[in-house]
Amino acid sequence: MVEDWCFKRDMTERGGRLKFRENTRSIGPVRTMTIYNTPLRYCVETLIMPDHNTRAAPIFRPMLRGLYPIFSQPEKSGPLRGHCDTHFFQVSCVIYLSDTDANDGAFVVWPGSHRMIAPVATELTRYHSPKEYLKCRDEVERTIEPVSITGKTGTVVLWHYRLLHAAGRNTGGGVRHAALIDFKNGWADAMPPKERNKAFDENWSPVVLEAERELAAQGADMAVGHVPAESV
Ligand SMILES: [Fe+2]
Repeated sequence: MVEDWCFKRDMTERGGRLKFRENTRSIGPVRTMTIYNTPLRYCVETLIMPDHNTRAAPIFRPMLRGLYPIFSQPEKSGPLRGHCDTHFFQVSCVIYLSDTDANDGAFVVWPGSHRMIAPVATELTRYHSPKEYLKCRDEVERTIEPVSITGKTGTVVLWHYRLLHAAGRNTGGGVRHAALIDFKNGWADAMPPKERNKAFDENWSPVVLEAERELAAQGADMAVGHVPAESV
């Protein structure tokens, strides 16, 4: 039995996944590496700072979720289920603090699923999963091949808040260490949840909106990109 921020539970039952939140947020080096990480903040600002020529610039809000290690566990059969988080942010970030291969608890995503899920998840909360959302999640899992995001220590993964995702299984024998940070801006945060029915709206940066228009025209998925580890 292991206790983390969420609950006390058997290690195998929880798949080796632990979440340390509040107790990590005041640790100076962790804050420096995450919410005060200037290159990382800059990267995210290029995604979520909207055009504010006609309004005062929105506040840029990083929020450190905490340190989320995944301990190696025995092999388990069956497909990995995806989910969407129920709190609001625009972009979230996983920083690998250990080399992470596909079987080391790599972050798993269903590419392009944010566009399908955004319109049906406006009423998704911690206590309520709308039928439309659950149907869409099943369709995503049936039609899109999940991708394990691998990377060396220092790799940063940025992902959209409506992207179906999962914490991958760690059967590699070690511990996958990672820090998680959420980002949003004040305009997006103030929007009523029921109006957040598009993957991208005016609360995203002009660069993202332009890229989204081009990709939608091509019928292509958003590319999965990598930020060089040395830059963060
Ligand atoms: Fe999640």
